[in-house]
Amino acid sequence: MLQTSNTAPAKHGLAAGTGHAPARPDWTIDQDWGRYTAEEHGVWRTLFERQSRLLPGRACDEFIRGMQDLPIGPEQIPDFEQMSKVLRQRTGWEVVAVPGLVPDDVFFEHLANRRFPAGQFIRKPHELDYLEEPDVFHDVFGHVPMLMNPVIADYIQAYGEGGLKANRLGMLEKLARVYWYTVEFGLVQQSDGLRIYGAGIASSFSETRFAVEDESPNRVRFELARVMQTHYRIDDFQETYFVLGHLDELLELARIDFAPLYQRLAGAPEHEPGDVLPGDAVLTRGSGHYHAARRNAGTA
Ligand SMILES: [Fe+2]
Repeated sequence: MLQTSNTAPAKHGLAAGTGHAPARPDWTIDQDWGRYTAEEHGVWRTLFERQSRLLPGRACDEFIRGMQDLPIGPEQIPDFEQMSKVLRQRTGWEVVAVPGLVPDDVFFEHLANRRFPAGQFIRKPHELDYLEEPDVFHDVFGHVPMLMNPVIADYIQAYGEGGLKANRLGMLEKLARVYWYTVEFGLVQQSDGLRIYGAGIASSFSETRFAVEDESPNRVRFELARVMQTHYRIDDFQETYFVLGHLDELLELARIDFAPLYQRLAGAPEHEPGDVLPGDAVLTRGSGHYHAARRNAGTA
């Protein structure tokens, strides 16, 4: 099943849902590291090794450096406490375990306090490329290396604060698109080419190549208002990726007061995921063949 944010407005980024509320009000649970099975560590190893081979030359320098500096490797699912010791020293962030998707307000509250909620579970061996909810591989492998970077660290905290405000203003959908097209599916122009910094791409074997190399998607220069008006795909590759000129642009974004922008954009036209607009700075005009084939096959 494929959806855009048109049809699933309740999903905020990869955080939403109330299916399994745990005992603590902040939804955290113990990671209970000792209870992971050999099979679960094996799934981590398979995913880690596969992705580590693919990312050099495709992920941004900051991602590769963050990964190198973290105490995580292919051998086993990382121990959140051990990992958080290093992360705390570097950027003041820590990783806390949650059972899966958490409600928006809980998610934002964690981010605003520099706690990154990570799924405690890992996907099954026969579902390596299928994720209904973010698991430990997506959340840790995809997100934590970038949280070692001070710019991303500040940006995601600001997003948490902004999320709490947007929730009160009823503007969450617009803000969620900014998170989606940056933290989850962002690309950045670096001196040696287009690179991935978004966790949704960096943790996905198939989307890593698609986002950087395939001729199907559009690659458009990131522009805040444009992104806030653009729906996204939840269950398939993105039709358009938005590209930063430099990661430091996120610092500026972190300082913006979104309230006047929400007002200005209320009622403005919204765009479909594959739209290319006259005002876009287009880096690559995609052929669109991938999603066209999916639509013809009746799967999109
Ligand atoms: Fe994520």
